[in-house]
Amino acid sequence: MAKPISLEKILFSQGFGTRRYCSDLVYADLVKVNGVLAEDPEERIATEGLILNVEGRNWEFHEKAYIAFHKPPNYECSHKTTHHPSVYSLLPKPFVERGVQCVGRLDFDTTGLILISDDGQFIHRMTTPKKNIGKVYEITTPEPITQKQIDHLLSGVVLDDDPEPCFASACKQLGDHALAMTIVEGRYHQVKRMMAAVGNHVAKLHRTKIGQYILPADLAEGEWRWLYPEDLQKLSKSVEVSNV
Ligand code: URA
Repeated sequence: MAKPISLEKILFSQGFGTRRYCSDLVYADLVKVNGVLAEDPEERIATEGLILNVEGRNWEFHEKAYIAFHKPPNYECSHKTTHHPSVYSLLPKPFVERGVQCVGRLDFDTTGLILISDDGQFIHRMTTPKKNIGKVYEITTPEPITQKQIDHLLSGVVLDDDPEPCFASACKQLGDHALAMTIVEGRYHQVKRMMAAVGNHVAKLHRTKIGQYILPADLAEGEWRWLYPEDLQKLSKSVEVSNV
């Protein structure tokens, strides 16, 4: 069991502001601990299963933040954006304050599952191709998808900036103009460039799965949810190549 820590430190660790500000929140009667109004910012509190309420909003204590986010179109996965608002503008402020980052990036017009965390080691683990963690994309194309194109994606395509071919680990045709494709790497605009290399294009791109974790059907665009140990386990399971 983790050692109890002072409420002020806990609030700070969760991204509610400077230590001083967190202390003032308590003095201003704006913090509840497991449903009870807190009075002393120095009080030591057990963090296991802790539910805070800060300025009227419930907040689960998580030592590290691991969240699944359903990215809407027309948002950039960057803190300093160029043309579109940032995905971080859709998250509660404490996340940004504690320095969360997207695990890889989706293009501004891509939708679907993206992971966000403040755990650098987790971000590294999830993005290294060595781990063989597959990501499944649903692709909609303007031109019909042919078996020849699918065979080409599976046998590997060479993109213009790298002589090493990149492969789809699995492809499943979902319709004349729709394909689910699994890839393990995360090169720049990889799916769009792979589709262009086989003579088609991407009209719409949506990520549905990372490892064995599926974008929850009830997580609407722009919404996020905490990931728990059982979700993290699913994420780190390598892709089953035959089962998109
Ligand atoms: N591949 C792309 O081309 N774009 C994305 O957003 C993700 C993968």
